[in-house]
Amino acid sequence: MPRVSLSESNQSFEVAAESVIYDALSDQGLDLPHGCLAGSCGACRIHVSLGSENLSPAGAIEKNTIEAIQDEYRKSVGEEFLKDKHIRLSCRARVKGDVTITPLSRK
Ligand code: FES
Repeated sequence: MPRVSLSESNQSFEVAAESVIYDALSDQGLDLPHGCLAGSCGACRIHVSLGSENLSPAGAIEKNTIEAIQDEYRKSVGEEFLKDKHIRLSCRARVKGDVTITPLSRK
């Protein structure tokens, strides 16, 4: 089974393949930041530091929201913040293999 690790807390969870990150961790008692759970608010934004290739491709809704998040960061903290950041939405991304994530806050 794939493993989702949180880089800041050193927590790690085995999850079912193809499960949505937010749902899989919620089922195990971890409440990640979230809002709409539908891919549009961006509250569940995460940085995928390892294994981004092990996530499902982002769909149109997720891509639009990620672009809005990136614009938000460019305006608030600058382009440099986005360097080496692989932003996904935990309410949309499905796990196919091991990943390491960090929840991101609004700036
Ligand atoms: S919770 Fe709103 S986009 Fe994920």
